[in-house]
Amino acid sequence: MTESVSFDRAASYYDRTRSLSEPVMANLIAMLSTEIGTSGRCLEIGIGTGRIALPLARAGVQMVGADISREMLGRLAANAQQTPVAVCLADATRLPFPRRCFDSAIAAHVLHLVPRWREAVVELVRVVRPGGKVAALRGRQAREEWWHEVTRRFFAEAGDPPWPPGLDRIEQLDELMSSRGAAVRAVPELVEESHPTLNDLLSALEAGIWSACWSIDEPTRKRAAATARAWAERNLGDLDQPRQRSEVLTWRVYELPWR
Ligand SMILES: C[S@@+](CC[C@H](N)C(=O)[O-])C[C@H]1O[C@@H](n2cnc3c(N)ncnc32)[C@H](O)[C@@H]1O
Repeated sequence: MTESVSFDRAASYYDRTRSLSEPVMANLIAMLSTEIGTSGRCLEIGIGTGRIALPLARAGVQMVGADISREMLGRLAANAQQTPVAVCLADATRLPFPRRCFDSAIAAHVLHLVPRWREAVVELVRVVRPGGKVAALRGRQAREEWWHEVTRRFFAEAGDPPWPPGLDRIEQLDELMSSRGAAVRAVPELVEESHPTLNDLLSALEAGIWSACWSIDEPTRKRAAATARAWAERNLGDLDQPRQRSEVLTWRVYELPWR
């Protein structure tokens, strides 16, 4: 069984490369704090640098976090300043908390990194009280085909390493949550707009910024990026021209049964 993917190696650059624009972040925090409420305690598994937890804490939510990456938690402590967020070094599949001790929980950009993600979900359901809520996001999904086409060509040239090790589609989580008696609710999609160039994408793939690239060694990444770059130049044109990219964030809220 492979291990969960720790983000130790990404801690120094994570916040720079994964941020959301201010209006989208504001909508996200408003949506989550409304769903979760500000009166109880909320656990975030895979809390990372506190990208979501810290603004939620500033909005009045009592946040607690768990992560397997000491480096990411160190970054969170530096980001937190005076914001109160309690954290622990712990695996989401074996949480060091008694049952029913949280009112809600968040799992954002994490279950796809956990091979035993179903066990992590069972843990979430154990530690959140009956009638509590769990908000979850699998990841961001670009709408534009140019982004997918170039990315597919890069990974194909790199030998298509297996990815992700954990949850692949949010619908798999819907199924598991339903089977545990939870009501599944979609919330309105959030869309992050940006204008990267083909070179921005190719450079990020080549540098191994995203966790999907971490199993690929540097020479292979360079070769795969060169092949994808040549294809893109022939078929898509100017590598330095900014292009529309819309990334969709599909959140779910699961309401746990009252028992
Ligand atoms: C992509 S980051 C997301 C961080 C934060 N949730 C956010 O949205 O910015 C994923 C985080 O999950 C952590 N992680 C991976 N597997 C984990 C596990 N089994 N238990 C707890 N944390 C885990 C990683 O170390 C990393 O900090």
